[in-house]
Parts: sequence; structure tokens; C-alpha cells
Amino acid sequence: NGHSQEKVDPLSLVGDELALLANRLRSMVSAEVPRLAEASEYFFKLGVEGKRFRPMVLLLMASSFSIALPAQGVAQVVYNDLRSRQQRIAEITEMIHVASLLHDDVLDHSDTRRGIGSLNYVMGNKLAVLAGDFLLARASVALASLRNTEVVELLSQVLEHLVTGEFMQLSTDSQEVASMDYYMRKTFYKTASLMANSCKAVAVVAGQPMEVATSAFNYGRHLGLAYQLVDDALDFTGTQASLGKPALSDLGQGIVTAPILFALNEHPQMYDLIKRKFRKADDINLALEMVKKSHGITKTQELAAEHAQEAVDAIASLPPCEEPRVQQCRRALMDLAYRVITRSK
Ligand code: FPP
Ligand code: MG
Ligand code: MG
Repeated sequence: NGHSQEKVDPLSLVGDELALLANRLRSMVSAEVPRLAEASEYFFKLGVEGKRFRPMVLLLMASSFSIALPAQGVAQVVYNDLRSRQQRIAEITEMIHVASLLHDDVLDHSDTRRGIGSLNYVMGNKLAVLAGDFLLARASVALASLRNTEVVELLSQVLEHLVTGEFMQLSTDSQEVASMDYYMRKTFYKTASLMANSCKAVAVVAGQPMEVATSAFNYGRHLGLAYQLVDDALDFTGTQASLGKPALSDLGQGIVTAPILFALNEHPQMYDLIKRKFRKADDINLALEMVKKSHGITKTQELAAEHAQEAVDAIASLPPCEEPRVQQCRRALMDLAYRVITRSK
């Protein structure tokens, strides 16, 4: 089937819906107190709404299941209702994501995000924390309105995972911090769980069979892991200008990521630096040098590529479907996995 093998622009397949989503997000955070509304919609404003990567993935996933396309009449109404429920899941996912970023910037004392001042920097910690809570509250109401307890369960579990991952990152136990297994579990909780569970939710709300929901989950999980591994490599290879946030920020915060763990295998001296969280003068430079003369970056990129491949395989495992639109969206999801590992910001 020549047509569906062509390169497709993932954004153009769901661009109209993403524009709708941006408007919905802004209207979902209206608040009685104007300043709270202002704080909550800070990252939903035009120009700083981010890559909207998660909503794009979710809308493409929603179009990747083999459902009979709507004929007319009742079938059309049912289809439209399902689609708007899936859009709701994309909105909820983005709200959870932004809420976690607002809190994350407080915890990390970050002063920039998406190329502008972070909310805590602009409005202070108290407002930023409350704005994050407010987004979660609104996301909860939207979630409940879907009247689907399994979806509520999936996305509530994500909240637990986000907190667990962030908490694991605070660990001071050097054994844990120097373990690749601990790092991968933390990364699943912190980054991949939201993608995995929201992808699954889009399948569950569509009444897809368990195997399909599992493939959707696996796509999100592996895409999320690949995404974070690339992020960790970019923290070493990128610059403030290319990333829109400071480079080497993980090391600066004493956070151990995959490049360091791979470098540790080649340079056991790294363990001392890990133990003292790169706090001694020149530790950051020493660690950077060791990473550079090791295969830390390459191995991180290779691991990211393996997870991207697993994400592609998860899409390939969906039941065959001849519908051109379905095939295009599946291709787009596969392309995205490739883009995740070739991105530079
Ligand atoms: C960004 O990581 C942060 C996360 C992906 C999750 C943060 C989670 C919490 C703060 C727990 C609270 C959760 C909720 C739902 C409010 P990073 O600091 O490595 O990335 P960055 O470079 O984007 O800051
Ligand atoms: Mg941060
Ligand atoms: Mg953080």
C-alpha cells in the first residue's frame, strides 16, 4: 500500500484538534479569583504552550485503532462522542503534565521554562504551588466527568507515580543512586507513566480489547523512556540557547542520569563523585570529563534507540487495519518515536 507508506507530518494529521485543545485548556482554568486564573493559564498562553507532544500522541493513538469509521446518523453521533472523550483525555493529560512542571520548577528552584521565566520565578513559590494544585483539581473534575472508573484509575495512578518518581530522585542512598535499575524505575514513574497510562486510557475509553490497550500502554511507556534518555543526554550535549533551559542542570542538582551511570561502568572513580552529589569544587567538570571520555553519551543514545524501536514494535503489533487514515496515524506514531531520538531540544 504505497500511499500509507509515505512520510506523514504528525502535526498536520491532528493540527485542527490541537488548536481546539489549546482553547479548551484556557477555558478549563478560568477561576473565581483572577490572579489564580492568570497563574494557572500561564503555560497555556499562545507561544509558550510547548510542543504539545502528549496531546499529539494521544490524538494520533485515538485514530490508530481499527474502528469502523462513522457512517451517518446514530453511528456518527456515537463516534463524535467517543472522539470528544478522547480529546478530554488529551486535555487532562496536558493539565497533569503542566501541573507537574509548575511543582517541579519550585522543587528545582528553576527560573526559566520554555524560554520564559518559570511561574515560581515570576509569581513566587506559593502561587506556583497553588496554581499546580488548581490544575490538578480541574483535571480531576474533567476526569470524573468521563464517567469511566477505569480511566480515573489509570490517570490517578499517574499522579502517584509522578510523586514516587520525584521522591525517588531525592534519594541519598548511594547504592540506589548508582543503580541503573533504580534509575530506570524512577524514569518510568517520573516521565513514562503519564504517556503509558494516558495512551492506555485512550484505548480503554474506546472499549478496545485488552491486547490493544496493552500495546497502547507499551507504546507510551517506551516512547516516554526514550524521551527521557534523550533528555538526559541533551543535558550534557546541549546549550542553554539550544534547550531553552540551562545545560548540565542535572549534575548541578546532584542528579545522576544514564550518561553518568554508563560512565561509572568505565570509570569507577565516578562513584565518589556520585556519593557526594558532585558538590565538591570542580566535581561537575571532573564528571563531565569522565562522561566525555567514556561511552556514556553513546550508550544512552543507544538505549534510547532501543526503546524507540520497542515503541515502533508496539504500534506494529496492533491488529491489521486497511483504513488509510488509521495507517497514516500509525505511521505518524512510528515517525514520532524516531523524532524523539533525533531531536536536539
Ligand atoms: C520534570 O523533570 C518533572 C517531572 C517530569 C515530574 C515532576 C513531578 C512532581 C514535581 C511531583 C508532583 C506531581 C504533580 C502531578 C503535581 P526535570 O526536572 O528532570 O525536567 P525539567 O528539565 O523539565 O525541569
Ligand atoms: Mg526541573
Ligand atoms: Mg526536577
